[in-house]
Order: sequence, then C-alpha cells, then structure tokens
Amino acid sequence: MGSIRRDKNAKPDMRTTMQLGAVLSKTAEVRNGHLYVGGVNMAELAREQGTALYVMDVAQIKQQLRAYKEALGEDNIVAFAGKSFLNKAMVRLLAAEGCYLDVSGGGELAIALAAGFDPKHVIVHGNNKTETELTEAIEAGAGLIVADCFEELERISRIASARGITQSILLRIKPGVVADTHTFMTTGSEDSKFGFGITDGWAERAAAQALQLPGIALKGIHVHIGSQIFAISSYADTIEVLANLTENLSKNCGFTPEIIDLGGGLGIAYQAADEPTAIQELGQLITKQLPKAWEQRGLPLPTIIVEPGRSIVGTAGLTLYTVGAIKDLKDIRCFVAIDGGMTDNIRTALYDARYESVIANKADRPRDAIVTLAGKHCESGDMVAIDASLQTPEVGDIVAMLATGAYNATMSSNYNAQVRPAVVFVEDGTATLVQRRETYTDLMARDI
Ligand code: LLP
Repeated sequence: MGSIRRDKNAKPDMRTTMQLGAVLSKTAEVRNGHLYVGGVNMAELAREQGTALYVMDVAQIKQQLRAYKEALGEDNIVAFAGKSFLNKAMVRLLAAEGCYLDVSGGGELAIALAAGFDPKHVIVHGNNKTETELTEAIEAGAGLIVADCFEELERISRIASARGITQSILLRIKPGVVADTHTFMTTGSEDSKFGFGITDGWAERAAAQALQLPGIALKGIHVHIGSQIFAISSYADTIEVLANLTENLSKNCGFTPEIIDLGGGLGIAYQAADEPTAIQELGQLITKQLPKAWEQRGLPLPTIIVEPGRSIVGTAGLTLYTVGAIKDLKDIRCFVAIDGGMTDNIRTALYDARYESVIANKADRPRDAIVTLAGKHCESGDMVAIDASLQTPEVGDIVAMLATGAYNATMSSNYNAQVRPAVVFVEDGTATLVQRRETYTDLMARDI
C-alpha cells in the first residue's frame, strides 16, 4: 500500500496525453482537446454509457494477437490467458483470430463453451481443480488439461477412463527460475504452490505416473514463471532448464514431450517511462533458443505454446470515471473522488500498481496537477492512483485511466454492493456494448 502522505518533492510531469508513450493504445488520438480511442470520443462515450466504464480497443487486441502468432510461427500455438480479461465477446474475437484459450477453472471454461469456442483449443489450468471442474473439462472435450499435482493425475485418470476417454495432459513444472517481477506475480520458483519441482524429483515421478495411468495421454510440459516480466532472459533460463528436463525424461522415463508450453508473463508499460520488451523480441528468443537447446541434445522439436494475457489486452483497455468531488487538503494531498475504485481496479491496493491517467475532455492540456484518485468505497486504501499527474480536474470531468485492460475487470468485486462496470469494445469509430453494467437485481440474484 502506498503512503498516504503527499510526496512533497513530487512535481507534475507536465506531459500531455500523446506523450505517454507505450501506455497508450495504438489508436489513441486527441481531437479538439478530446481523447479518442478506436475512433470514438471517450468523454462522449462516458456520458452515453455512464461511468465507471471499461473500454477496450479491438484493433489493438487484434494487433497484439497477430504479433504473437507471427512471432511464434505457424507450427506453434498462441493461447490467450482468459484470467486477464474474459467475456463472450472476447472469446468470439479469439476464435475469429485463430487463437487458443487458457482457462483457469470451471467458470472460465463455461464462458468459453457458452460463446461456442472449440473445446479442443482450450487449455485447462488451476492448482487444485475440483472433481466437478475436471469432469466438466473432460466431458467437454478440452484439448489439454495441465495437471498440477499427483492427486490431479489420479483424478483425471479415474474420470476419463470411466467415460472411455483418453485425456491429453501437460505436467505443470516449477523450473526454479525466479522472474524479475513483483513477488506476488512470480510462480516459477521452487517455493511455489504451482506444479511439480525438478530438483526434488517430483517432475520425473509425475511423468512416470502419468505414463502408466489409464485414460491419460501425456503430451508435454508446462511452465509459467511469472507476470509483468521485463527481463526476458528469464525465458532463456527457463528454456535451458526445460531442455535438461526433457533430456532426463526421455532417458529415464522413455518420454519425449511433444508440447512445451512456456506460459505467459511478458510485461507492458503502465507508466510513460516504461519500456517493455516487444512481442517480436520474445518470439525471436523463444523460436531461436528452444530449437537450439533441443538440437544440442538431439531431441525432436516440440510444438511450442505461449499463453500471453496482459501483453494482449493490457494497453488495449482504459477505465473511464467521472470526477464527483475534489478535496484539496493543504500540505497533505489533493483527493479527487471518482465513481469507481478498488472494486473495478484492485491492483493499486494489492500490488502498489501505478497507472497513468488523463482527463479525456482536456486531453491536449499538460498534466499540471498532482492528485490522488480516490474511490467511492468505505476503505482508506481505496485509491486507484496515488500522487499522480493529471490535468487540473474539475467536478464533472471524465478521467481516463490508461492500460487497465488486464486484470481489472476480471479481478473486480461487489464490495459495498457496487455494481460492476459495463464493457465497451471500440473499433473504427463504433462503440459496441459487449457486457452491460450490473444492476441491483444482479446483486441480489443469488439471494434465496
Ligand atoms: N498462463 C498461466 C498458467 C498463468 O498463470 C498466467 C497468469 C498467464 C498464463 C498469463 O500471464 P500474463 O501474460 O498475463 O502475465 N493478477 C496479477 C497477475 C496474475 C497472473 C497470474 N497468471 C496482476 O494483476 O498483475
């Protein structure tokens, strides 16, 4: 949690909207002082749809998906990580772009199936998938289930063989690589709840067990080393570890993985100064290093899967809020109250995340104020931006918080019985409501 004192040394950076670099979605532009994304005026959209509002730039999502597909090549697979952003419209967009989908648990799988997604293109994750979730995945015909523990191997085998099904699986492996990111977002170290370790011999034991269990076809291995990664050398380290593991599995268990799934994790720009690695660069690293490491060991080349989430949707999204009140506390801080908060963006409170914001109806002006964007919830830590630069705000202004496309909507909550925002897709000057705002009736839909 950030300090609640104004940083007296902080100075507004004075940059205006179009100087915010990689934080901006590609179609962002300023016309007559107003921010446009996907050819749509954000301030007008806010007034039509109400706020808080999630907006997604479809052209940017497509561009990122295509960049991954191109960087990985035709023989490999791009599976979007649904946990970063998911609804039926997104699922349909993924299908149209020829992408696979990584789901975490039964709920995400249900959304994919309801939108008509091909179950063969679904990869099912989770570190403790329930009996029900596994049954749903197996009966739906999920392409791959990633087994995370010995108990799951046994469960998958039992459920699949009882139905005369042979379920293709991957083993989730902890490569022992510590990615350079927030500790809550590292997952590949040995001290992790996810997957089977290598040095303790669990990975080999799991492979041996999977190979002899009925109803299971072991296809390969999966890793996910973390999220919001800037130093992509972590991926090179991971590839080396996996090449050694593959060699050992093939020698000791007679099993050679056909699939290597490297998970997601590529970082994005949240702040104007951030310079994340390009998708093309990560693609180059993977498509050069992995074949090289495999060839050196005389191993047959596997199909590679990647599972990006944030780097597909992060900067494609923004959140629109209306300024409702301003409390400029002398020598303390300037609170600008917006009509959302930790219910639509928990990342600031949870990870001390930093975002850039602009006033959509003053988008050509310099950001000459330092403000704290305070949410409307009964919690002092309910701030989505702390001491951040913004154009001088007035009540009624529309704040656009940038790069909120990943892990904002999917991590939203109903605290204070707040209704969750609508989601609008924008493309070529057209705004399409793809998920309506929740209603009070929705809030009570489960009450008996
Ligand atoms: N594959 C697996 C198995 C994962 O666990 C994740 C993310 C991804 C792919 C996608 O990673 P990405 O490309 O989006 O980094 N709530 C946190 C992020 C948690 C990520 C969890 N796993 C946040 O808001 O930053």
